[in-house]
Amino acid sequence: MSFELPDLPYAYDALAPYMSAETLEFHHDKHHQAYVTKGNELLAGTGLEGKSLEEIVKESYGTNAPLFNNAGQHYNHIHFWKWMKKDGGGAVPGALASKIDSDLGGYDKFRADFIAAGVGQFGSGWAWLAVKNGKLEIMKTPNGENPLVHGASPILGVDVWEHSYYIDYRNARPKYLEAFIDNMVNWDYVLEMYEAAAK
Ligand SMILES: [Fe+2]
Repeated sequence: MSFELPDLPYAYDALAPYMSAETLEFHHDKHHQAYVTKGNELLAGTGLEGKSLEEIVKESYGTNAPLFNNAGQHYNHIHFWKWMKKDGGGAVPGALASKIDSDLGGYDKFRADFIAAGVGQFGSGWAWLAVKNGKLEIMKTPNGENPLVHGASPILGVDVWEHSYYIDYRNARPKYLEAFIDNMVNWDYVLEMYEAAAK
């Protein structure tokens, strides 16, 4: 396989005012495109060309850092676009809400801990909600890393690289994270990934 840039699943201005069209144009068209282009260059000749993206991410981790960085970011961004929607946020769907209650101490604690993970990730990286050994966990990772390489399945992730929020929020990363959870998360897609991970 080769990496391909997916279209955004909504218009560039769909997430405004929480995430502007300008941010999405740069983030999707320039940054994600660069991971795809560079990833394809680095994938050629590795012997991993026939593998799935998830396998390429796991197999390049710790063995081929340049390929891993780009393949990881390709995986992360494919899902990041789908983890957001117009008029997102709001109530968590039933099955996932009760799992958040039992594993993470309820929605309010989950919200606070998820935001804290994003604020606490020093420098570039991601904050995650993931399934590990059948339980929900909040995680954070640097750069292009993700829960796949830590024995877990990501079901929600937020990009805390400055390219994701600096145009709209400048240095106010906590405000961006609050807007992500409260106004942008596509819980239907989180539930879909949760159900796939729980199988
Ligand atoms: Fe990004």
